[in-house]
Parts: sequence; structure tokens; C-alpha cells
Amino acid sequence: MKAKRPLVEKLKSHFIDNPVSFHVPGHKGNMACMDAGTHFWDRILQYDATELPGLDNLHCPTGVIKDAQDLAARAYGVENTYFLVNGSTAGILASLLAVTHPGDTVIVDRHCHSSVFNGLMLGRLKPVYIGRPVDDITGIPLSIDMQEMDRVLEANKGAKAVIITSPSYYGVCSDVKAIADRAGNNGATLIVDEAHGAHLKFGDRLPASAVDAGAHIIIQSAHKTLPAMTQGSWLHVKGKGVDRDRLERMLGIFQTTSPSYLIMASLDAARYTMETTGAQRLKEILEQAENARQSINDIGSGLFCPGSQYFRKKGCYDFDETKLLINCIGAGISGDELDYKLRTTADIYGELYDMANWLGVITIAMKQSDLDRLVEGCRGIKPQRPAKKIPPACLDNRADCNGADPWEVLDRNCVSTALDKARGMIACSGIIPYPPGIPLVCPGERISARSIELMKEYQALGISIKGCKDGRVEVVEE
Ligand SMILES: Cc1ncc(COP(=O)(O)O)c(C=O)c1O
Repeated sequence: MKAKRPLVEKLKSHFIDNPVSFHVPGHKGNMACMDAGTHFWDRILQYDATELPGLDNLHCPTGVIKDAQDLAARAYGVENTYFLVNGSTAGILASLLAVTHPGDTVIVDRHCHSSVFNGLMLGRLKPVYIGRPVDDITGIPLSIDMQEMDRVLEANKGAKAVIITSPSYYGVCSDVKAIADRAGNNGATLIVDEAHGAHLKFGDRLPASAVDAGAHIIIQSAHKTLPAMTQGSWLHVKGKGVDRDRLERMLGIFQTTSPSYLIMASLDAARYTMETTGAQRLKEILEQAENARQSINDIGSGLFCPGSQYFRKKGCYDFDETKLLINCIGAGISGDELDYKLRTTADIYGELYDMANWLGVITIAMKQSDLDRLVEGCRGIKPQRPAKKIPPACLDNRADCNGADPWEVLDRNCVSTALDKARGMIACSGIIPYPPGIPLVCPGERISARSIELMKEYQALGISIKGCKDGRVEVVEE
């Protein structure tokens, strides 16, 4: 018989044996690490408040929300911080629309999150994509190539904005300072999607945060890497170039009029925790993560944990070592096979896996015993010989294959076609393998033979692809 409260019951059963979380949210269910003082989280339903007298209003804050935002701005060294209650997604949409007008050109990191492509559609913007080189061993995108950035900026002098992701989902950082200088010289606003980097400001051994590297707008999912509740994010603004009134109008469009006080309070607590004990905890857990990396590399089963040294050798600007990446190629298994084994044998849940890798997110809420359990779980992996051929997680997408701007396809007639016949046709929506969620084809791009080949390989391996169902994709009728 079907469960009467299926979601409630599933949540309860999932957490009954305290599985180890290597995934977001950053608090990992550990209340002690989210310092809101005594008994705050015990009264969670009571504090799920609305805009009562004295509790201020997110959309025109003058009281406690303003105070909490100002304290966050001070902690990050920025002029303004805005709390986001529906994730970085809302901040990305609002910032793109705040600094552009329909028809404007925007230089876009080709490996951005889907919210960026949605922002391009809503704003009727013209993207010029920057591809990234892809690592031959791990198959993941490396840093933005500065020569490529210079070439694209030179060819698009009138671009109104540049939007990049740094760190990437995998932890790869680009040279934000150099990009900020170049964008600034061209009169373009630099928006950095730092969804995965809210913790960087608090770690000595970590790459510099975009807030210190000269970016104009920086969006961070506090819920991913800090002890904040899911959806709790913030947007920071630096410098005089960004029109705050227009940005606030856009935030008003994309954010709910019923913001969760629990999420906002968790942002306040996360900022406080990071300012008081966060830096020390981050230092400790980073050392423990480094030991776990070494231990996994020493097992000898072919599992390989690359750190910042590896990525610098590959020409990357930097790497965030709170990302515990395990490359599985040498063990002859895929990332999802490792994920399955860790889940079923050690009750460990990772954040991300792709064809070749498994990724865990390390935060201050974790304990040495969590890392020990991961190392033990990895010891139980038996290498497969001969090693399986595993397709790359993504393409470097350097080729310019734009067929239409993303917004244009919204108004065009779309038809379903078999993959074999889709070569050269314009995609109606993004075609995105999950995981890792990096678009193989963006809406408006022409579908290449190589993308079709990869889609077939992914499908054969059971990887789900958003925008490709039963071997068919939606294309523009031409
Ligand atoms: C690079 C990147 N940017 C933005 C987002 C959206 O963040 P949020 O879930 O806070 O809306 C994500 C989500 O996974 C992401 O990976």
C-alpha cells in the first residue's frame, strides 16, 4: 500500500541511520555548527514567522534584516549584501537583468549553471560564449583561458557584462582579478557566480574570493558551503558601477514576497559562525581532508584524489580543496558506480558524480570520522581490469556553433527529431546531462556530431539527459 505521507516518511527513513553527508547543505544536519545561540533551532516552527511589527521586510529593509545584511556586507568587505531566499538562482537572474537591456551582448562562461541561460532568455540578451579547456584525465573543465578571454573581449568591445562561474562545481577557480581588470577596462560589469565559494573568504589556504578580486556582483549559495539552510544565499555588490535601485527592483521581481525567516536567520547565524569560529574550523577540516586525499591515493586501487597541485600543473589558476574529488578511471569504474558502492556499503552520500568522478563537499560541519568512513569505503573498492573506456564528462565547446540567441528559440516552432537526424539543427532547449549539469548544447546552439555521439554514449550508460528523451531532441523547425 502507498505511504500516506510519502515525502515525510521517506525523509524520516533516509536519515534514520545517520548517513554520512558529503553533499549540500553545508550544515550537514549538524545543529551545533550553526551558531544561533541556545534553543533557537528547537523552536523552529515558531520562528517560521512573517513580517510582524519589528521583524522588518526583505523587500525594503530598515530594521533587523537590514542590520543582518549590513553585518554580512562587513564580513565580506563589500558595500551591499542582499539576502536571497530562493537560492543563487534568483540573484543570477536579477543581476543579469539589472545590468543589461534587451539586445545587449553578454560574455558568458560556457560552463555556467542553467539559471544563467534562463537569464539570457528572460533578458533577450545576446551571449558570446567562452569555452574552457577540458582535462584529459579527469574530463572536467579547467580554468577560463585568459588568452581566449582577451580575444572575446577585444571582439566584443560593447559587451555590457561578463558572467563567469568560479569556483566551478568541481572546485576549479579562474583568475577573477585578471578578468575583473579586463572587464572593467571594457566598461563591462563582471558578475561572478560564486555559488560554490561562500566559504573562500574565511580560509587562509583557499583561493581568493571574488569579493576580494575586483568583481562587481558576486552571488553565493551560502547553503552549499556554509552552515545555512537550503536556498539561503546572498548577493554582494562592490563599487559604484552597479545601479542599486535597478538591482533591487529586479530582486523584487525574482524573490518571493513571503521570505522564510528561518532561511534568513540561518544566513545571519552562518555569517556569525564563520566570523567567530569558522576560520579555525575550516583550517582543521582542510587538514583532515588533505590526509583523506593522501590515504585514498595510497590505497593503490587506482582511485585518484587530485588536489590543487595537480590542477595548477594542468594550467589552472587555482583549486578549492574543500572539494574532495575522486577520479575513478584508474580503478576501471565510473563515478556513479563508486557512488553506488559508497552508498550501499558505507551509507555515504556524495554531492556529484559523473562518468569519471565522484565529488564530496567538505564543510566546517563535518567530523574526522566522516572522512575516515570515506577512506574505509574507498578501501572496499575492487579495481576492474581491464579498465572500462569512459566518455568525458563534458566537451570543451570552443567552437562557435550559435544558430540563434537563446530567447529567439522561445518564439520559434519546435519539433521533435531523432538524435541521428539532429546534426546541424538548432536546439530548442538546453541539452544537459545530469550529473554534472553542464550543458552539452545550449538553447539556440546547433547540435554537433560530437554532442550526438556523447549523448548516445551517456544514454547507453544510463546517464539521464535533460532535453533528450527516448533518443529524441526538440529542435527549431527551419
Ligand atoms: C554553479 C552554480 N550556480 C548557481 C547555482 C544555483 O544555486 P541555487 O541552488 O542556490 O539557486 C548552482 C546550483 O547548483 C550552481 O551549481
